[in-house]
Amino acid sequence: MSSTPVLPDGWRLVALDSVGSTNDEAMRLADGGAPEGTVVWSREQTGGRGRRGRHWASPVGNLYTSTILRPDCPAARAAELGFVAALAVADIVPSGRAVRVKWPNDVLVDDGKVAGVLLESAVGQAGTVQHVVAGIGVNVGFAPQLPEMRYPGAALGGSVEAALEKLAAALAARLVEWRRDGFETVRAHWLAKAGPLGTEVDVKLGDELVRGRFSGLDREGALLLETASGPRRIVSGELLGRAA
Ligand code: BTN
Repeated sequence: MSSTPVLPDGWRLVALDSVGSTNDEAMRLADGGAPEGTVVWSREQTGGRGRRGRHWASPVGNLYTSTILRPDCPAARAAELGFVAALAVADIVPSGRAVRVKWPNDVLVDDGKVAGVLLESAVGQAGTVQHVVAGIGVNVGFAPQLPEMRYPGAALGGSVEAALEKLAAALAARLVEWRRDGFETVRAHWLAKAGPLGTEVDVKLGDELVRGRFSGLDREGALLLETASGPRRIVSGELLGRAA
């Protein structure tokens, strides 16, 4: 497919050839009142951003998109949307390929990272979310070697347009599920696609390296570990390796 992607009813596409970061453009549009379902898509980014301040290499050939969401929830719940977005990416992986989610919001295919999610939000005075931008980068045509990964990435194959069309539909469906059933259901689906409980993992917390066994995801989206010194709850950190 190389025609314009068709989005779910009521969603709107802002298609660009080149931009610094689709997240920045979506934040700008959201600040100006653009509605939920505004999807910014660029064929390339000149300043693509990843989590933890990393650069996200964004030449033509892969998918770079940011969707405006207006979840009407307390700021503390905004991070749930990262898990919603990761599940949406997992939904578009062709059947027959081994898909896995990795905490917090990565998606792996055949053990290589295929996508990452960068959530950014604006919070109002009352502590409620004004808007969230779900920035999603998906390797479609090729798999760049990411500096944070100790193993090769993966790519979906097919066209960028087809990937965007499927991703928008999957994200719309996962948002309906989140609003209707809550994070408990999202959490259960995420856990079903994560690495096995009990897998030994390393998590980098600043200068500290925590080793433990993956024991779950809590109701706030924190990673749960069983370490030699007892249970640990990790709110923010970098999970090293392929597990969980
Ligand atoms: C990660 O570090 O895994 C998250 C990567 C997120 C990249 C996407 S590409 C579209 C959007 N625009 C950006 O600048 N970043 C996100």
